[in-house]
Amino acid sequence: MKETILKLLPQAYPWRQQLLCYDSIDSTNTQAKLLAAQGAAQGTALIARQQTAGRGRMGRSFHSPENGGVYLSLILRPQCPAQSLMHLTCAVAVAMCQAVESASGLRPGIKWINDLVVGKRKLGGILTELSLRPDGTVDYAVVGIGINCCQQAGEFPPELPHATSLAMETGKEIDPCVLAAAMLQALQAMEETLLSRQAAIMATYRRDCVTLGQAVAVHSPAGIRHGTALALDDQGGLTVAFHDGTTQCVSAGEVSIRGMYGYIS
Ligand code: BTN
Repeated sequence: MKETILKLLPQAYPWRQQLLCYDSIDSTNTQAKLLAAQGAAQGTALIARQQTAGRGRMGRSFHSPENGGVYLSLILRPQCPAQSLMHLTCAVAVAMCQAVESASGLRPGIKWINDLVVGKRKLGGILTELSLRPDGTVDYAVVGIGINCCQQAGEFPPELPHATSLAMETGKEIDPCVLAAAMLQALQAMEETLLSRQAAIMATYRRDCVTLGQAVAVHSPAGIRHGTALALDDQGGLTVAFHDGTTQCVSAGEVSIRGMYGYIS
């Protein structure tokens, strides 16, 4: 797998020496965080054929079977305060739309804040985790992405009725190594403009985001509130007009959204 991915990457890809591939791992994000805490450099990427304990947002698991998806985590070390990275998950989502499009010809949509979708089905997800120094600056960020690539209809477990894969959506076999190489390239390009082109990144996110204009249910510890998603700010905050007449900007750390898609994100 590693040799194939390296052959697919351009020679100019700057993180060639930092690619780690595994047949099976508990979670690429968990292991990336351990490596980052031990000093692994920016650009270290972990790719697995299978995860035995793949993780999603809000403590959920991420189904990660062998011969199913691409499971990838990348260590970044942006030199900035955490407040400057509120848009990181959105930037990764835009990069992954580009990667999927370049590998398969299909451009997914984004269900706020971290899901890649095709129609009403979930194609993949993003889990971003930060470690901060005592002064509030970022020590490292781990961006983890799982994209369902090869599964056929009927291969997802019954508890994932809304899941889909690139094979199911395109009717073609997409080589996971081709997808993985496209993901690495898109992430490396994203890193170059992450802090300097936030407004442009968020403009693309808004274009790809399928949540805007839709009915949403906002789940928080305080309860569930229903409304309509109106707008997205440059930090990834979602403005929701609630049915009780109030309007609020909600952030992904605080709430999850259940909308027309029926599943929680
Ligand atoms: C979600 O759907 O809430 C996010 C899913 C993120 C899954 C990816 S797979 C690679 C990386 N390792 C993990 O354990 N999770 C992320």
